[in-house]
Amino acid sequence: MGRSAVVAGLGAWTPPRVVTNDMLAAELDTSDEWIRTRTGIDRRHVVDPGTSTGHLATEAGRRALESAGTARVDLVVLATSTPDRPCPATAPVVAARLGLAGVGAFDVAAVCTGFVYALATAAGLIGTSVADSVLVIGADTFSTITDPADRTTRVVFGDGAGAVVLRAGDDEQPGALRGFDLGSDGNGVDLITVAAGGSEHREADADGWFRMAGAQVFAQAVRRMSESVRTSLTRVGWTGDDVDLVVPHQANVRILDACARDLGIPTERVAKNIDRVGNTVAGSIPLALADAATRGVLKPDARVVLTGFGGGLTWGSTALTWPDITAAYDD
Ligand code: COA
Repeated sequence: MGRSAVVAGLGAWTPPRVVTNDMLAAELDTSDEWIRTRTGIDRRHVVDPGTSTGHLATEAGRRALESAGTARVDLVVLATSTPDRPCPATAPVVAARLGLAGVGAFDVAAVCTGFVYALATAAGLIGTSVADSVLVIGADTFSTITDPADRTTRVVFGDGAGAVVLRAGDDEQPGALRGFDLGSDGNGVDLITVAAGGSEHREADADGWFRMAGAQVFAQAVRRMSESVRTSLTRVGWTGDDVDLVVPHQANVRILDACARDLGIPTERVAKNIDRVGNTVAGSIPLALADAATRGVLKPDARVVLTGFGGGLTWGSTALTWPDITAAYDD
């Protein structure tokens, strides 16, 4: 047995305002039919002005702590690429709002793979005894960075957050995170990007909106998530037949179905909540987990693989046997 990071609590939160496809079609050259058939999305949640990623992260974090039955952790790790400010990180303010001022807190930026990267970071810090417990949050508000006039991105993204509490345990107990696989390819930096606002492009007329080369990203997402799941499965000694539920980043329902086909895993064993939340970026995987857990799709002892793909380009996966916990999430 080895020291391992074990999932001890799960929570998620979406802002109350719902934007339907018809509401977008009233503003943009698109239709409910196009959005449903090309993405699988029916609606998404969007923040009101004044609500930021930090607020969503705090709500999800509070629910994960409740789910774990604790008010304390040693560390807060927040995956986001829509931080409240370019500087400093958002995690310290989230920690303070949760009554955790004093603990270590930092952000991880890997766009839609951010939650898997944050889990791996937290698992490493638990494994090396830097921390005994970590609150890992994934939260994004892409409605604040998508161009209101860009139909190719605006219909896809929604705002949301999810979180888990990790505790030190042993690698054979339910909830232990195993078989991590992380990857990146910076040659694809321009495929998913906000070009301006960093140190590279400081000119006043640079494009400050989020841009995505959808069709190229689509092909990469299928390939990278499928390969990454296979790598994780090999590392934990499972085959596709052993997997009860794949919980992928919710990018597009056609991507999820293509991954299922590629992996030879029936599509019923792939978690899907994209119809109700859209692509919530770093919030996507924990929101899909919370949705599956509260609907009874995800049961204790189920063999689960989490996988993500996103900007960077980045991708990553991890596997676990689902623990006996009660998720805190009101859809
Ligand atoms: N409504 C109507 N038409 C739209 C549209 C919309 N919201 N968005 C794009 N179109 C049009 C395009 O302009 C294009 O028209 P054209 O053929 O006249 O040029 C046509 O639909 C096809 O565009 P394309 O980009 O090839 O569509 P698609 O089927 O690839 O769907 C995405 C676009 C964004 C939904 C899809 O590419 C996607 O999901 N990509 C991956 C996203 C992802 O994985 N993200 C993960 C990391 S964030």
